[in-house]
Amino acid sequence: MCGIIGYVGKKAAAPILLEGLRRLEYRGYDSAGMAVLGPDDLIIRKRKGKIDEGLAHALKPTPPAGHLGIGHTRWATHGPPSDDNCHPHLDHTGTIAVVHNGVIENYDRLKAKLEQAGHMFCSATDTEVLAHLIGEYYQKYRTQNGDLNPLTRAVIDALREVIGTYGLAVICTEHPNTIVGARRGSPLIIGIGQGEHFVSSDANAIVAHTRQVVFLNDYDVATVTNERFDVVNLGTDTANVQISNLEFSSTDAERGPYQHFMLKEIFEQPRAVENALRGRIDFEGATARFGGLNMSAAELRGIERIIIAASGTSWHAALVGEYLIEEFAHLPVEVEFAHEFCYRNAPMERDTVLLVISQSGETADTLAALREAKRRGHRTLAIVNVVGSTIAREADGGIYMHAGPEIGVASTKAFVSTLAILTLLGIHLGRMRQLSARRAMEIIRGLEALPKQIESILADDSELRRLALKYAKADDFFFLSRGYTFPIALEGALKLKEISYIHAEGYSAAEMKHGPIALIEPGTPTVFLVPRDSMYDKTMANLAMIRARKGPVIAVATQGDTQIKSVADDVIYLPETVEPLYPILATIPLQLLAYHIAVARGCDVDKPRNLAKSVTVQ
Ligand code: G6P
Repeated sequence: MCGIIGYVGKKAAAPILLEGLRRLEYRGYDSAGMAVLGPDDLIIRKRKGKIDEGLAHALKPTPPAGHLGIGHTRWATHGPPSDDNCHPHLDHTGTIAVVHNGVIENYDRLKAKLEQAGHMFCSATDTEVLAHLIGEYYQKYRTQNGDLNPLTRAVIDALREVIGTYGLAVICTEHPNTIVGARRGSPLIIGIGQGEHFVSSDANAIVAHTRQVVFLNDYDVATVTNERFDVVNLGTDTANVQISNLEFSSTDAERGPYQHFMLKEIFEQPRAVENALRGRIDFEGATARFGGLNMSAAELRGIERIIIAASGTSWHAALVGEYLIEEFAHLPVEVEFAHEFCYRNAPMERDTVLLVISQSGETADTLAALREAKRRGHRTLAIVNVVGSTIAREADGGIYMHAGPEIGVASTKAFVSTLAILTLLGIHLGRMRQLSARRAMEIIRGLEALPKQIESILADDSELRRLALKYAKADDFFFLSRGYTFPIALEGALKLKEISYIHAEGYSAAEMKHGPIALIEPGTPTVFLVPRDSMYDKTMANLAMIRARKGPVIAVATQGDTQIKSVADDVIYLPETVEPLYPILATIPLQLLAYHIAVARGCDVDKPRNLAKSVTVQ
């Protein structure tokens, strides 16, 4: 949600900023802008719209010259998308430029105070208020000597007045070699180069230039020049600065021959599952092992209940986790929307562990849930994709997905990777309790077969393309299932909504008859997940109820199921697997169906309207 990039060095800043912004665009794309410090002055270019429709044109024919600059791609919170509301924002003297990701909650009070002092604002954003506040302090310090440079001092004092969240980068005409960066609640990293430095919300934007990074902590304020960076922390006296090496390369975050990142990531799923399993299966013990849980076997056995908190697609993965862990380990599991968990004062017994799931590791709602559980003294675990992200660093223990960068806004490979990890976690906890070695090995063998099985689904998506064209004009869709694949019905509906803007509801096939069945008519297709599992007969009975109301049915069934053909209009087949792994296989055709429908409707699959990949506001 909003992406920030900054550069200071010897190269031309504008092309580096533009390329970085393109790589950050999945974080927000309603407008983009940059400020470059030229030989004479600050040059600002900003435009409403996606980068290629707006900012890229504003940089032609000659991008602003200068070796220092900051850029921003926006997902609107305060003020609608417009050229005026687009970042960077300037202070009242026009000499300080600010880009910001987050929300200044008390901006209206700060704004009123500044207006009384004569400040005038030209945007509806909270960020412009922050720029003016920094400017106000800067005027106080600019002629004073001190340990810190006056710009850093001004940022620190302004931030002490701020309630809310921020990842920000600030430059000033009087400090032509300095970027001041700060974070609280929104990510910010420093990239270390040779005679140059970067600041960025996300490693993707700078990995083409350097793999050495520092993940800033909350309340860190960094003063970054081409030669050095110094970090102070507003909460503690000393900042904890650690240099990390990024594990991925810039090509991992490129689209390659695929038309969209989402399609690329769908096709990366066999590898994502392999990476999720790699080194984590203990064949001798018929169990799984994890390096980063940071809990002893005794502590893991002592867990009495698990609450899983997550948002969006990760929440759907959590629902599958509930089925898996309850079946394998007989542990009570509750799944919570992260935001509801935080504010509802849910009772947690002493031996309850909070597990959070987050692809980005930055989702504000999920992070808040994690912090709430920690505040109450509970052990927290996290399943995260982005290495070094805030959730990964703050959880007591964790499991990385190792799925590689996920750029498409609609999550795909991270979801499937999470399901594989939750299966292993269920086995791990189950084998410490009552799960038999025989059953565990059955599941493990099923897991091992998944990459090839997913490949076989991906190898021929012609039927899904045909179905996409057949149903692309529908206004409403239902996705129904029961048991293990019920959460996949929710996920299938979410995928379709997100990228094709078709209204879709995921529902329990059994619950349907208690109300929503009233909506079924000949123009409303239903995707029925009906694999050969223990719920098969019951789900088939529910399917008959839809057919009786003349609702078209697309069935997702197990290969070899001949019965299904006579009751469904269209059938997509899955390879056979064990019941707990059908969620993984059933996900793949639903992703492809949503993708092909969205393409058929001419939608921008990787940048769906109103969405952002990493939602860092609550
Ligand atoms: C946003 C994205 C969703 C994602 C959710 C949770 O809403 O648009 O695709 O599932 O955040 O993201 P996380 O990174 O925490 O898994």
